[in-house]
Amino acid sequence: ASGTALAGERPIPLGSAAEVGAFRTDPRYRDALRRHCDVIVPMNDLKWQALRHDRARFDFSGADQIVAFAREHGKALRGHALLWGEALPPWAKEMTTRAEAERELVGHIEVVVDRYKDRIATWDVVNEVIAYDPQPGAPYRDTIWQRLLGPEHVEIAYRTAARVDPAARLVLNDFHFEQQIPGAAARRKVALDICRRLKDKGIPIHGIGMQAHLYADKDVDVDGVHGFMRDLDALGLDVEITELDLIDWKLPADAAGRDATGAALVSRFLAAVVAAKQPKAIVTWGLTDRYSWVHDTFPRQDRARARPLPLDADYRPKPMLAVLERYR
Ligand code: XIL
Repeated sequence: ASGTALAGERPIPLGSAAEVGAFRTDPRYRDALRRHCDVIVPMNDLKWQALRHDRARFDFSGADQIVAFAREHGKALRGHALLWGEALPPWAKEMTTRAEAERELVGHIEVVVDRYKDRIATWDVVNEVIAYDPQPGAPYRDTIWQRLLGPEHVEIAYRTAARVDPAARLVLNDFHFEQQIPGAAARRKVALDICRRLKDKGIPIHGIGMQAHLYADKDVDVDGVHGFMRDLDALGLDVEITELDLIDWKLPADAAGRDATGAALVSRFLAAVVAAKQPKAIVTWGLTDRYSWVHDTFPRQDRARARPLPLDADYRPKPMLAVLERYR
């Protein structure tokens, strides 16, 4: 890390997810990763869909390329994600028994965590296991894992990861923690309940990842964030920002206006977190507006290009970059 950290705070490692297609074809993308990242996350290549397309053998080709790049350039790595209800190959969605699901989950985590033991220090062990809008008695997302294994799917994942790499930092990663959105308070509570239960059972968990895909037209829940940070502290847990970007589909078209609004929102969000707790890392879900999931998932009605990330589509710095650099 370099540059000027905020007064009284140590610098925070900054980073980005790396999309392997852009990584392979666009030298400017690799330059941007080199320059702007202390930590890199393979965006899709450690997901089941990429690794387990073929049930009989693992395909590490994409992940290995990004891991080698990170090593060559002295970047830390985050692993994303060992268990998720999405990005599964067809065969995994068709599992039918508890025994099969447990065997596959445990076997998968053993192979993947072991392979990257010396390279990947932090894992999103479970991703998006919390129900979208949790109701009493129904805290978990309806996934193949929940259907076949029940709430125990979370414990199995952490237990296995910790057994294979006892030195790894194990994180629970999820969304809608930080803004004024229906369900956000209930989601924070479920996250804390899961962590508390794991700790009570002696199963290691080290932190929570706040994805922070921020809706640019909604404000930060500053009090909610502060309370969440205090509760994490009380449990002895870290926080990291894992997938920061801006969903600008409801903002007026003007590009400069969207960038200014977005940067101000990111600034408010990071200030709310840092005021209460020092995150272990701040990671954006990509670096350049040239490549982002927001284009496909949150298309604008006027069909203008989304502007979710710290660099524009031509790699020019946007106001969001200056906000991030304050912490590095
Ligand atoms: C997204 C990727 O960015 C896309 O390229 C892919 O097609 C789908 O997944 N929450 C997550 C990430 O945890 O893994 C998702 O990434 C975005 C939402």
